[in-house]
This record gives sequence, structure tokens and C-alpha cells, in this order.
Amino acid sequence: MPVITEIEDLKRLHRRRAPRMFYDYAESGSWTEQTFRENSSDFDLIRLRQRVAVDMEGRSTAARMVGREVAMPVALSPVGLTGMQHADGEILAAQAAEAFGVPFCLSTMSICSIEDVAEHTRKPFWFQLYTMRDEEFTSALLSRARAAGCDALVITLDLQILGQRHRDLKNGLTAPPKMTVPTMLDLSRRWAWGMRMLRTRRRFFGNIVGHAKGVTDASSLSVWTAEQFDQRLDWAKVRRLAEEWGGTVILKGILDPEDARRAVDEVGPDAIIVSNHGGRQLDGAISSIRALPGIVRAVDGRCEVHLDSGIRSGQDVLKALAMGADACWSGRAWVYGLGAMGKPGVTAALEVILKELDVSMALCGRKDVADLDRSVLLVPKGFEGEWEDGAA
Ligand code: GLV
Repeated sequence: MPVITEIEDLKRLHRRRAPRMFYDYAESGSWTEQTFRENSSDFDLIRLRQRVAVDMEGRSTAARMVGREVAMPVALSPVGLTGMQHADGEILAAQAAEAFGVPFCLSTMSICSIEDVAEHTRKPFWFQLYTMRDEEFTSALLSRARAAGCDALVITLDLQILGQRHRDLKNGLTAPPKMTVPTMLDLSRRWAWGMRMLRTRRRFFGNIVGHAKGVTDASSLSVWTAEQFDQRLDWAKVRRLAEEWGGTVILKGILDPEDARRAVDEVGPDAIIVSNHGGRQLDGAISSIRALPGIVRAVDGRCEVHLDSGIRSGQDVLKALAMGADACWSGRAWVYGLGAMGKPGVTAALEVILKELDVSMALCGRKDVADLDRSVLLVPKGFEGEWEDGAA
């Protein structure tokens, strides 16, 4: 087993081992990828305050996310097609998260179905919902998630239409891959991936194929999104969905203080997730870490505020928590791990993040994630941005 010391190690292995179209799918942002890049580079602008001669014994990263006890406040973000990064990917990642003690959230656009993940895990996982035009299908997804024991619903608000990722179009992304000459050439270099895929029956969008009616191409994320996702999604519908679910609700994809206020006033979720979908939707949007402080002020303690988009290390987690997030979500970090080595790779990604968080926290002179605040950071002046006519 290769020595893994940082998330970049997993990313390199993922790139080598998974078919190019799936690695590219995970690694892409939309259009120029400005937001995708700034989600990370804005974290780099924030510095940590090194403190010394502070007793650092007895540290704890344990926390709670919407009532659930977690080993560290980091959940696995929902990511589409992960069963294509590695055979049975969602099951393996859910098992790794369960053993580690952090929440796993299954995407609507997963390869392994809700029922399949439930059958292969012991603790409840969370379910992420894309709302469809077909209300019956959306309701059926909610019932299936409830029957599978999912104990939180994550409603994604920032993807009624798909932001264009150039590489997906150029690669002809589908699940499973269509056998074109470039794809066959690429697969001929990924034997281990192919052998594992041949041994599993999970090669299609498991929550959709066999469940949805009138679909013209159930293998293409872009066709499915364009045909089925509900472009009329508005706050009234979000509220109805939250009521229909009736349990813990997390709203994902909020990037503006005004939307954060509306989310709290109109829906009253248990948490919102500050996110720009990993820079995959509105290119040119602000990074999540820059948006976070304004949103924390707007929410004013009325629900938990989580941060997603840009988390690739424990130091990023530390910075987000210190900037006011109650918890973080990370997608690419665990997907790199999965594409690199399956379940042990997901575990390795979580171990790297936990260790970085713990050691960085200690070197900042803090012993508990609950004690992290702005005073452990050096934040550049004007970090949140001084925009003309900016929403406040
Ligand atoms: C969502 O499924 C995405 O591709 O970002």
C-alpha cells in the first residue's frame, strides 16, 4: 500500500487509476474554473496564528452535526457518479465514513442505490435530493430514503440546470462509459478498474434506472439534468419538500446572505450549507470561505451554518470553523481517496484531514474544535470583499 501523507497523494493515484472521463468529472469546475480555483486559493490567503507554551494534552475534534455525534465536524459531500470512480464506490465510502464516525451523504445521482447502500451499512446515512419535474418521482425518492433509514435530507438548491464543464462534453461523459475509440484506449490502461467494474452489477444511476419513467438517456448526467430537473424550484417548493420529509433538513448551495435569511425565514432548516457546488455551477461566483462570514451574520444562530467547496485539508477545516462555520463538508478529498484505493483510500483521506486538523489546532494553542474562533487566524483586511452594491 502506498504511503499517503496528504490529499495530493490520493489525487495523483486517482488520476492514474480511474478512467480519464471520471477523474475529469470530479476535478472540473464550470467554464473558466475561476470559482473552482478561488475556493482553494482564498483559503490560502488566511494565515494561522502560531501560539506557544500552551498545554496541548487532551485534545478533541469530536463535535455534533445536526444533533449527530461526529469524530470531527466534516461530512462527506454528496457527489454524483462515484460508483464510476471505483466499483461499488458509494457503498465503500459509506462504510468508511461509518467506521470513522463522520456522516456520509448519498447523492441522488449515485450509482449504488439508496437501498443498496442501506443494505451494506449499519448506521443511517444522509440523502441528497435533486428535485425533479416529476413530483411523483421526487416523492418516491423521499419515501425510499425514509424507508432506508436516512436520518437527514440535504436539498440541493444550486443545480436546477447544469453549469457547463467543458471536459465532460469533450470526454462524452456517461455512466457506464460508451465504448468510443478514445474511451477504449483510455480503459485499456486501467485494467484493475475495468476488472472490478466487470465484477459488479452496479454500473448505472441506481436511484433512477428502473424507477423513473420517460427518460431518453438515463446514462447521461447532462441529458437527465436538462430533461428532468425542476427549473421551477422556489422557496415554496423547498418548504413543501421539507414538510413532506418531516425530519432533519439541510439546505445546500447557499452563497448569499439574503438567500440565507430567506432559507431560515421560509423553511427553518436544521442547517444550511454555504456552497457553490465546488465551483461547478456559477463560474464567477464568490468562494465559499469568503461568503461564509456574511452568511453567519445573516443567520445569527438560527440554524447551523456548514461550509462546503474548497475543503482539501485539516487546515482548511480549521480555518472554516474559526471563521464561524459549525461544520464542514468535503467532496473531492474523499473522491480522490476512493478513485485511488477504494475504501482504504476514503479512510486515508479522512485520517489525513483529522490529523492535520488536530495538529494545526494544537499548534494554534487550542485543544478543542469548539474553541476555534477568529482569534486563531490572521485574516487579510477586506477578505470578505468590498463590492459595489454588494448584498449585505
Ligand atoms: C452534480 O451532480 C455535479 O455534477 O456537480
